[in-house]
Amino acid sequence: MHTNPVIIIKSPREIHELRKSNAIVAEVFQKLRKAVAPGVSTRELDRMAEEIILSRGATPAFKGYRNYPATLCVSINEEVVHGIPGSRRLKDGDIVSIDVGANLNGYFGDAAITLPVGEVDQEVRRLLEVTERALHTGIEIARVGNRLFDISHGIQKWVESKGFSVVRDFVGHGIGKNLHEEPQVPNFGSPGQGPRLEKGMVFALEPMVNEGSHEVKILSDGWTVVTVDGKRSAHFEHTIAITDENAEILSTLSY
Ligand code: MF3
Ligand code: CO
Repeated sequence: MHTNPVIIIKSPREIHELRKSNAIVAEVFQKLRKAVAPGVSTRELDRMAEEIILSRGATPAFKGYRNYPATLCVSINEEVVHGIPGSRRLKDGDIVSIDVGANLNGYFGDAAITLPVGEVDQEVRRLLEVTERALHTGIEIARVGNRLFDISHGIQKWVESKGFSVVRDFVGHGIGKNLHEEPQVPNFGSPGQGPRLEKGMVFALEPMVNEGSHEVKILSDGWTVVTVDGKRSAHFEHTIAITDENAEILSTLSY
């Protein structure tokens, strides 16, 4: 990680463009939320997402990125992130993380949610709640005057206070005319450190939270990240812009 990352400040016009690409991402989730059910294959979800993105005049942001082969990342249970869609079908009691990116007019949107499939156990329901709250804890801290790692620290503190762990090997990021820009936004760190947050900064915050240990590894497909202990993991992500004193969530539907 660079100690002095160059963080590109976005103009109000650019933030407006980012609002549009992220609205498409939000629309994908609106559709997929309803489609997630026992028996559905991850490839079917991928097709639905791609169809929506293309119909809005955008392109899937992940497809072709470092040769990634799909529109979505779909990660089930002990899979943390970057699961490749295929013939596997969701089953009752699974949790499924869905990550999607869209490029509209050269501006990127990026978000993720983790959903229960059918009836899930109490412990994993708590994992989902804690992870989603971790994201919103980070968003609350993302305001002018705070420092970057205040966000990281706030997320880590919340998650660990609930007995779960944050993944360290993958992080959030700046986003704009590129899917990944500086700075990296870790989900752990020391308060009072890192660059000061300013109006016009845009970040994808994305806590990945494990039931057990924070350790992860990559499978032989070169993409799928799984927990080393085989316990489950959840992932929530929003693209946010610091527009006033606080942050606006771009990857959400405003209607
Ligand atoms: N949301 C993830 C990220 O920001 C998705 C990237 S998947 C990839 O890293 F295929 F594009 F790498
Ligand atoms: Co991201």
